[in-house]
Amino acid sequence: MNTTTVVMPNNVDDLLALAAAARNGAYVAYSGFAVGAALRTRSGKVFTGCNIENASYGLTVCAERVAIWKAVSEGETEFEALVVVTSIGGSPCGACRQVMAEFALDMPVVIADLEKVRSVSTVAELLPGAFLPYDLLGAPR
Ligand code: THU
Repeated sequence: MNTTTVVMPNNVDDLLALAAAARNGAYVAYSGFAVGAALRTRSGKVFTGCNIENASYGLTVCAERVAIWKAVSEGETEFEALVVVTSIGGSPCGACRQVMAEFALDMPVVIADLEKVRSVSTVAELLPGAFLPYDLLGAPR
């Protein structure tokens, strides 16, 4: 397992089980590739997500973003950990990494297959140089 500087979040087994179960809701009529995500907030709530595809392929939404948007839509923007489960331990896409960066650069992201954890990394490690709110102000980094 590749753990860089990040420690495994507490109670990750619960999140792994919830993310794996969330895969069952995936609507993957085109790729057949089900993804499940489980996002724990700092307040202790867990929001799950699955990927939802569309005949207009570009409208597909990833599991990670579904989980994040469910949380944000419920007023939760402080995140503790995100677990992503696929059959092969696939890595979050760049668009999802950017959405994670908006809220939680230091959040550990656990990538797992159906049997085991493959890696744990922070969002900042997954997306160095993310576009952040201060980039809108034109200030130098
Ligand atoms: N997918 C996710 O749900 N999360 C990712 O981070 C990568 C890709 C989905 C989108 C699409 O439904 C399927 O996986 C194949 O790309």
